[in-house]
Formats: sequence, structure tokens, C-alpha cells
Amino acid sequence: MSKIKYQTVTGMHDVFGREQLLYDKVKEAAQKIADFYAFQRINTPILEDQDLFIRSVGESTDIVEKEMFSLKTKGKDLLVLRPEGTAPVFRSYLENGMQSLPQPVKLWYYGPFFRYERPQAGRYRQFWQVGFEFIGDGSSVLDAETIVIAYNLLSELGFKKTIVSINSIGCEECRKDYKKALSSFLRSKKDSICSDCKRRAEKNILRVLDCKNPKCQQVLGEAPQILDYLCPECKNHFKQVLEFLEEIPVPYKLNPFLVRGLDYYSKTVFEISFEDNPEEEAIGSILGGGRYDLLGKALKTDIVPAVGFSMGVERVIALMKVKEIEFSPRKKEGIFVVQVGDLAKRKAFKIIQDFRAAKINLFEALSKDSMKLQLTKANKLGINTVLIIGQQEALNNTVIIKDMTTGKQSIIKQENIVKEVKKRIK
Ligand code: HAM
Repeated sequence: MSKIKYQTVTGMHDVFGREQLLYDKVKEAAQKIADFYAFQRINTPILEDQDLFIRSVGESTDIVEKEMFSLKTKGKDLLVLRPEGTAPVFRSYLENGMQSLPQPVKLWYYGPFFRYERPQAGRYRQFWQVGFEFIGDGSSVLDAETIVIAYNLLSELGFKKTIVSINSIGCEECRKDYKKALSSFLRSKKDSICSDCKRRAEKNILRVLDCKNPKCQQVLGEAPQILDYLCPECKNHFKQVLEFLEEIPVPYKLNPFLVRGLDYYSKTVFEISFEDNPEEEAIGSILGGGRYDLLGKALKTDIVPAVGFSMGVERVIALMKVKEIEFSPRKKEGIFVVQVGDLAKRKAFKIIQDFRAAKINLFEALSKDSMKLQLTKANKLGINTVLIIGQQEALNNTVIIKDMTTGKQSIIKQENIVKEVKKRIK
């Protein structure tokens, strides 16, 4: 064998075989949830204006500072491979006049996203997300419904012991006072925090709260908490969200340090994790979201309240494997045609087209000559009804139809075979 010259780009991977089945299962689960909650699927382009993310996700976030795959077109436009889905969906909502539809507009997506991160477990440069967004309504019940949808999606995928980590980061008004208080606290601790936190304290102070450095976390244990600074409206909004969650009930824990790494959030932010799951720690959070009422303002356009979440497909699949929530391949429904000899192969070739026209699944292994190999394949697919065309049948224009469980078989005229199979399917 010659040496393989080309390989996938660093941090990107091919998806095929059993792995692809798991991707399909995640998408099917999301589709089921979307149908129940009446979300419409949206597909936005892979490429967007760089500026869309600088304004929405935020200039001093990791995504914008370090992780965007950007390119300059021949026309000198600055584009990026989309690093996330919320800003593009919001752009599409505005661009396509969805404000004139009944609100909220409910959109979901499933597709690839790109971040130039250091590749490691659960961190890829191309990864897939499932996302759900409610756009055009600021009601607290939608924050709770978003969380319930995310919770139900994980449950649909077989994860039972999940817990919502939730916080409110308030609106611009309540954040002003909080930032001041946090800033003065951090100044008093400047010798005990890491250099990243010192930098964040200057540029994007809330991000200090989710520093993973154990020393910083210890210091932050004494930091002022944003929940104590919420204005009456934000406080009431958050209280209502929690009350709705208690109604279901969805298990949650308050996490005053949860701020999430994107600048567009206000009020509710959340992530869902698993109780006692050391594997998750290694791969990072699998699902997160929140309210982003200020995104419109950041894009210098209409203020439109919105809330949503997205889930990382690779991470959820990694945990499905750990928890052995594997799905057996779907049993193939249909019949199988086995052929022996050149003339029989030609007859089978034609019969496949007849079944295609009748929209009945007919599986085959036309490139194989051995009857044994073909029957093994039918067996592997879990197919019970097999059509057999041997040399004799090919000459007589007949087909043997055989039930593989009972061994019972009969001979049917070739022109009647579709009708006969239809009768048996009924
Ligand atoms: P995010 O937390 O940046 O939020 O990403 C959501 C999920 O995508 C993460 O929880 C993780 O599972 C997955 N993910 C992120 N980066 C990677 C990576 N490099 N490799 C593998 N998986 C990754 C957002 O993207 C927001 N748009 C969520 C949202 C929707 N907020 C409101 N609506």
C-alpha cells in the first residue's frame, strides 16, 4: 500500500459508519423535540461577515480574539467560518423580515461550526451543534421553556441524571453597579489572581468569574455576587424562571459564577451537566445558552428580546459512548434480491427499478456473484423476505420469493412480483 499523502485538517474529523449513526440519532432526537415544540428548521450559510461576530459575540471574547477562521475574498470582504449559530440566526430573522411574523419566531438548527481552538478531547476545530432559538419575546416563561427543551433533548438521548446550572447576569443597568463592586474586589486581590484574570478584569470583567484556575476560584469564592445586584425587573424575571422550572420540576442549582463566554447574554444564563460525571469535566460543557435581549443593540439595529441554547454534538456523542447509550442500527425494512448468473443479474437490475417506482425498499448486492455472500448480507441487514433469481428463473421470467424465517417459498411471474410483495406487505 502506498503511503497516505492527505489527511484531515488538524482538529477536524471524518464521520462515517457507526459514528454517523450516532450523529443521525442526535439529529432525529432534535427533530422530534422541534416537532413537539413547533420549531422550524433554519439553515444559514457557513460563511458570514466577520463583523457580525465581533459585534455580537464580543471583541474581547476567546471566540473573537483567538478562535475565528477568517478569510479575505477576492473582493476584499472579511468573512469567517461561523463559530456559533445564534448571531447568524438572529441576522437572518432581521434580514428576512421575520419581525412581521407572529412572535416569538421559533427556529432550530443542526450543522457544522468552526473554532480555531487547541484540539483536545471534546474540542474540535469543526464541530456540530444543535440549537434552538426563541426570537421576539422577552417573557420569563420562554427562558424556562428553553431550559425544559434542552433538558428534554438530553432525556430523549437517554441521559437521565442531568442538572441545570443557572444564573442571571442582569441587564446593562444592574451590571454597571456589579462591575464596579467586582472591580474593586479584584483590585484588592490583584496579587492572588492569575495573569489572564488581571487582563480580563480590564477588558471583560465578568469573564473573570469563569476562570478555571483553582487559585482564582478560591479568591472568587469571596467575590460579590451578581444576584445581589439585580434590579427589581431582572430579579423578578429570574424568580419567575425558577418558579416555572420548579413546576415541572427540572433539577437546578444556582451558580453565581456562570457567565458564559459570549458577550450577548443578559438575564438568564444556563448550562446543563450530569450529576457525578468525571468524563464531562475532561470534555467541557455539552450544552449552554441563555437570554440575549441585547444582541439587537450590539448589532446597532432593532432591540429584539430572544433566548436559546445550543448543544455540542461531538461532546454529547462522546458521553453517549461512555454511558453506553449506543443505538443499534435501524432494522432495514424491505426485501432483498439475490441473483445468480449473468442473465439473472440483468433481470435483478430491472426489478430494482420496478421496486423503486413502487417505492418499496429493495436491497441488493449486485456486484457479488456468490449466493451465500448475498444471503449473508440480507441476514446482516435483518431482512426476512428474499427474492431469488437463479439461472432457471431468469430463463423462465420467474422469481422465487422466500420467507427466511419459515423457509416457505413460492414462484411468482416476474411481471407480478411487485404486486405480490405489495400484497404481502399489507
Ligand atoms: P457555546 O457554549 O459557545 O454557546 O457552545 C455551545 C456548545 O457547543 C458547547 O456547550 C459545546 O458542547 C459545543 N462546543 C463549543 N465549542 C466546541 C468545540 N471547539 N468542539 C466541540 N464542541 C464545542 C453557543 O455557541 C451559543 N450560540 C449558545 C446559544 C444559543 N445561546 C443562545 N442561543
